[in-house]
Amino acid sequence: MVTSSHSHLWFLLLLCCSPAHYSFAQSSLESKDDVRRSDFPDSFFFGTATSSYQVEGAYLEDGKSLSNWDVFNHRQDTNGENGDIADDHYHRYLEDIEMMDSLGVNAYRFSISWARILPKGRFGRVNPTGVLFYNKIIDNLLLKGIQPFVTICHHDFPQELEDRFGSWLSPQMQEDFVHFAETCFKSFGDRVKYWITINEPNLFADMAYIRGRYPPAHCSQPFGNCSVGNSDVEPLIVLHNMLLAHAKATRLYRDHFQAEQGGVIGIVVNSFMFEPLTDSELDREAANRTLAFNVAWALDPLVFGDYPPEMRHYLGNDLPSFSPEERKIIKGSTDFFGLNHYSTLYAKDCRYSKCIPGWDRPIRGFAYTTEERDGVPIGDRTGMVKFFVVPAGMEKIINYLKERYHNEKPLYVLENGYSPPREQNVQVQDLLNDVKRIEYHTAYLSHLAKAIRNGADVRGYFVWSLMDNYEWAEGYGPMFGLHYVDRQTLERTPKLSALWFKSFLNNNGSSFRKKNVIASASGLKADQQVQL
Ligand code: NOJ
Repeated sequence: MVTSSHSHLWFLLLLCCSPAHYSFAQSSLESKDDVRRSDFPDSFFFGTATSSYQVEGAYLEDGKSLSNWDVFNHRQDTNGENGDIADDHYHRYLEDIEMMDSLGVNAYRFSISWARILPKGRFGRVNPTGVLFYNKIIDNLLLKGIQPFVTICHHDFPQELEDRFGSWLSPQMQEDFVHFAETCFKSFGDRVKYWITINEPNLFADMAYIRGRYPPAHCSQPFGNCSVGNSDVEPLIVLHNMLLAHAKATRLYRDHFQAEQGGVIGIVVNSFMFEPLTDSELDREAANRTLAFNVAWALDPLVFGDYPPEMRHYLGNDLPSFSPEERKIIKGSTDFFGLNHYSTLYAKDCRYSKCIPGWDRPIRGFAYTTEERDGVPIGDRTGMVKFFVVPAGMEKIINYLKERYHNEKPLYVLENGYSPPREQNVQVQDLLNDVKRIEYHTAYLSHLAKAIRNGADVRGYFVWSLMDNYEWAEGYGPMFGLHYVDRQTLERTPKLSALWFKSFLNNNGSSFRKKNVIASASGLKADQQVQL
């Protein structure tokens, strides 16, 4: 629970903190990671990211229909937390764009609520008020010189499609997605130059169809306790439909819009890095297999036209096949790769050693993933159970992609972010004084810069997130924002990290010191500031 007290005067609280407290923060900021804006090309995109269900709220306003998440959260009480109001971005988008402008970012990644644009999917009409809302966002971003990166589907879609044919379990969803994508290209494509078809299809398939934690909550034993589902097979079908939906939307864009609109289209996958738990050959193979079963599962088909051979080997006929016609559509069907990267885990072999039930199955590639080696966590803990601070993982996962796909496609890091460990009765000022987040981003950026220096074609980095928001199955507990959002008043307050990011974007990078942060927060010059 967060204790809120005059958060708008947060910088005064900072100024009033004890010197001892500050000397801790000061030394934490002087990390070994040295990174500056100038370590990245001028044309590099630095942005923040959000998604529709996580921030918009207004869940039944202006013609929007119920989405899969609306229905799921109203049915399955996740502590009463849901996206009904979220950050009320629907009504506060102008203030939020001001916040981005004040950070000095040149890009913003957001998603379009499918249920707002097509409340009944292809079985109904376009909702003009929904189109108007995103037009206003796009136009206001462009007025500020902020490039929109638009995700067409970020986990949410009209419930109608679930009820009619079981959403992503059915090939019909491909048709619906293409119809939605076409509506987006027609409505916004004159101004949107960066399209992301689907957010994290690999993670969605896992969370919704292996673990059953996202709607429609399908799973089977031993993966979870759901009333319906088959964790060994359904995720494979779901991802297959998502990839074909992506490929067909991309073909449509290329055939009918790209030449005139001049944009690019890609996809974004979630990817942890995986390290072998021990030095053994078996664990090394397990780490490689886990990468194949998580990342290459979604990306190999887009580059090579088929799933990774490792997956075919272990999954046999459970893994769907692409017809020769589909293979033609899917191969080469992305202009860029999007990567959401937060953390690294260990992988351990389950073919020859005993593992917790579930991990010893083909769907997991007979590999178990864990955060601990001999009881020692792989990195500092965060507010997400499986997210640990392992900055070198950023460089390693980029190198993995670079090598596997021969550096042929540009890559955008479309999400990277930190949520602090959750504590009881945490004070707002502690959340605002988020030195750990600054350290996290500095360290991850430093490894990103190194990957670029070593030849990786990375063109953008987006902080998840612009502001604290609804974190799916975890509700409002994890707080990834550069801005704190008061859950009662919905007032936004910049955290220290927002000021760090602003300073970094002005090329002060690692030379950023708390003195400067407090100075900019209080409107004074650094040397006029209080002694720390
Ligand atoms: C990835 C997802 O795209 C986003 O929706 C989520 O909030 C973040 N990761 C943090 O878990």
